[in-house]
Amino acid sequence: MKVLIVGSGGREHAIAWKVAQSTKVDKIYCAPGNAGISEYAECVPIGAMEFEKLAAFAKEKEIDLTVIGMDDPLVGGVVDVFEREGLRVFGPRKNAAILEGSKAFSKDLMKKYGIPTAAYETFSCAEDALAYVEKAEMPVVLKADGLALGKGVLICNHLDEAKAGIKELMQDKKFGSAGDRIVIEEFMTGREVSVLSFVDGKTIRIMTSAQDHKRAGDGDTGLNTGGMGTFSPSPFYTEEVDSFCKEYIYQATVDAMAAEGREFKGIIFFGLMLTKKGPKVLEYNARFGDPETQVVLPRMKNDIVEVFEACVDGRLDEVELEFEDNAAVCVVLASAGYPVEYKKGYPISGLDAFAKEDGYFVFHAGTKFAEDEKTFLTNGGRVLGVTATGEDLKKARENAYRAAEWVSFENKYMRRDIGKAIDEA
Ligand code: AMP
Ligand code: GLY
Repeated sequence: MKVLIVGSGGREHAIAWKVAQSTKVDKIYCAPGNAGISEYAECVPIGAMEFEKLAAFAKEKEIDLTVIGMDDPLVGGVVDVFEREGLRVFGPRKNAAILEGSKAFSKDLMKKYGIPTAAYETFSCAEDALAYVEKAEMPVVLKADGLALGKGVLICNHLDEAKAGIKELMQDKKFGSAGDRIVIEEFMTGREVSVLSFVDGKTIRIMTSAQDHKRAGDGDTGLNTGGMGTFSPSPFYTEEVDSFCKEYIYQATVDAMAAEGREFKGIIFFGLMLTKKGPKVLEYNARFGDPETQVVLPRMKNDIVEVFEACVDGRLDEVELEFEDNAAVCVVLASAGYPVEYKKGYPISGLDAFAKEDGYFVFHAGTKFAEDEKTFLTNGGRVLGVTATGEDLKKARENAYRAAEWVSFENKYMRRDIGKAIDEA
């Protein structure tokens, strides 16, 4: 089979690595990909939002299956374009990707179908939102309705912050039209867990749990980032939590989408908060998590291409997912200054060490080749994701931090406390 992967980050590198393990696959392309991904895939310079070009490429190369990694093309309707051309593609159509693309949609869906989530109101007019927060109990959480690179969520402890936030989102349009509508939500406390799942429209199969670390600094300080590291499984995702979610959240979401005439095929990523009153949905994503994928896929035993195909064909009920009885930790190596301002273009050394030992992976998030076509250069805020497995979380964390030292580049920055939460479990 020939497989095309759309995207260019650490997540797509992990997907490409996993697809490359499949006995069914003999050629992988990635659009646009990155330097690291080129170990497994031929990278083609087509942007993830160039739907017609992507579909034309898939036709020309007789691609058997295209896997969309990123949210923007899914929300923009890339799957619909591929299907119109008769191409096989893994991911939700536009009318289902709205589960991630509009927070107001997902909140209304949860309310309508009784899926546990924080209480909320939706506003399309800044004056109404301002009047609402005047009377609301603090903290409140403001969320831009549309996609905002994971940055459109503001937690406001005081009325002044809430007012400033509304202005930023709705009047100054910091995230463009994503802020035309906002959701104002009750603030919840508890542990966060990410749960990824495969969905074929009717059946849902849960992968293992993971936890992300979104803030830039140790101790969850500093700005929100795309994710500074992950571990899997989460020791806080107990059997009790799992059965609650199975009863009230997972299948309920898939059934709700089907009932709305928005059959969901692809990945649903459940961002959960384990509150004192039970698990609640923080958010849905319509794609693999980044960097959750970098700890989940190295633990997955299945041939991922078989699972993708079962989803596309609507026969996921025939598939059981299997995961190793181990743990994985991913530490993101970033460029100092991320997520605000950082320099790029520095040579990276030490990457060869990963091929020498089992259970160690380096997934490239932002790298490119130097002119010699051999030397890797830093090319983004998040540069690499170093993943290691181990028999348990402590061992995996030790291994990941050991491997993080194998790599050097100028301005290398990482959090030192990825997985520290497991000490409290
Ligand atoms: P989201 O993009 O909706 O997952 O929000 C990003 C982050 O903001 C989450 O991972 C949480 O840490 C935080 N967050 C979102 N909604 C809430 C809420 N209702 N209460 C507390 N924290 C929240
Ligand atoms: N790691 C969070 C996300 O992928 O949205």
